[in-house]
Amino acid sequence: MYEILAREEFSESTFLLEVQHPLLAKAANPGQFVIVMVRADGERIPLTIADYSVARGTITLVIQAVGKTTRDMQQNCRVGDMLYALVGPMGIPSHIGEVQKVICVGGGLGVAPVFPQARAFKQRGAYVIGVIGFRSKDLIFWEDKFRDVCDELIICTDDGSAGIQGLVTDGVAQAIESHPDIEEVIAIGPPVMMKFCAETTRPHKIKTMVSLNPIMVDGTGMCGGCRVSVGGEIKFCCVDGPDFDGHQVDFDELMRRLDRFKAEEKQSLERWSRATNCRLQDEEPHTPQ
Ligand SMILES: Cc1cc2nc3c(=O)[nH]c(=O)nc-3n(C[C@H](O)[C@H](O)[C@H](O)COP(=O)(O)OP(=O)(O)OC[C@H]3O[C@@H](n4cnc5c(N)ncnc54)[C@H](O)[C@@H]3O)c2cc1C
Ligand code: FES
Repeated sequence: MYEILAREEFSESTFLLEVQHPLLAKAANPGQFVIVMVRADGERIPLTIADYSVARGTITLVIQAVGKTTRDMQQNCRVGDMLYALVGPMGIPSHIGEVQKVICVGGGLGVAPVFPQARAFKQRGAYVIGVIGFRSKDLIFWEDKFRDVCDELIICTDDGSAGIQGLVTDGVAQAIESHPDIEEVIAIGPPVMMKFCAETTRPHKIKTMVSLNPIMVDGTGMCGGCRVSVGGEIKFCCVDGPDFDGHQVDFDELMRRLDRFKAEEKQSLERWSRATNCRLQDEEPHTPQ
């Protein structure tokens, strides 16, 4: 059992949990993930290690409540509570090469997982340009953390309420224009965002790494759930990734596969919501007549 030491709310749907696990904190590297079970009868979900501290013996997860398990976590994982299981670090660590200049791009929730990579490139002596994108100003998080590790930071918002108005691809295009010597781009976010980041860098022939998020079940390369096509070959994201060459990934297939269980996911969320509402009503204090 792993204790939750801190929790922070970033928006109505996004929150951070800092979880005690000294061994995992020691072993973690940028780009890796964990598989979490909130309770013994819960499902296993993959979450990126968004930060880790050997000194505190903790790892940090940033979670977006999108379905049954992540909403359950949003409602029920409080400071002092225990996570039933936490397996990791999983996946191949990101390759932090000897590049001189790199752009680290995070879209929405992808801002959290790209942070350890930005920090690692900075520690290696690279000139780091951060491009982080949100729908609007009130959804921005970790701006200070990025300013600490980036030589330049471009914030993009859909509505123009902070930074430049536009998508992260606009920020990437702007950075490439001012720095024609960019050697690598790391892009993490929703598949459609990673797809268009890769299309933005393709004509410039800039190596572009993305972190894929297909549906995962066992996380050990055996079930085939996380199958992705990269450069015409089949890869299993949990053991061969999650980082892949963005110019080689079949993003359309990834998006189709992510939608495959939409009906079941909806049903499961509805069942959970009904059970939760019933429980809350049962727990309501009885008003004396
Ligand atoms: C390597 C990896 C790292 C991830 N890191 C994070 C993270 O740091 N923070 C975070 O909030 N989410 C992360 N995800 C996605 C997260 O695992 C899913 O959002 C979660 O499993 C959804 O579970 P649910 O029961 O809440 O929703 P469900 O009802 O199961 O699904 C809701 C939506 O999430 C998508 N989804 C379902 N299962 C997965 C899955 N295993 N992986 C990806 N998408 C899925 C579905 O397409 C659907 O649109 C990561 C996924 C992978 C593969
Ligand atoms: S999650 Fe089963 S093979 Fe990757």
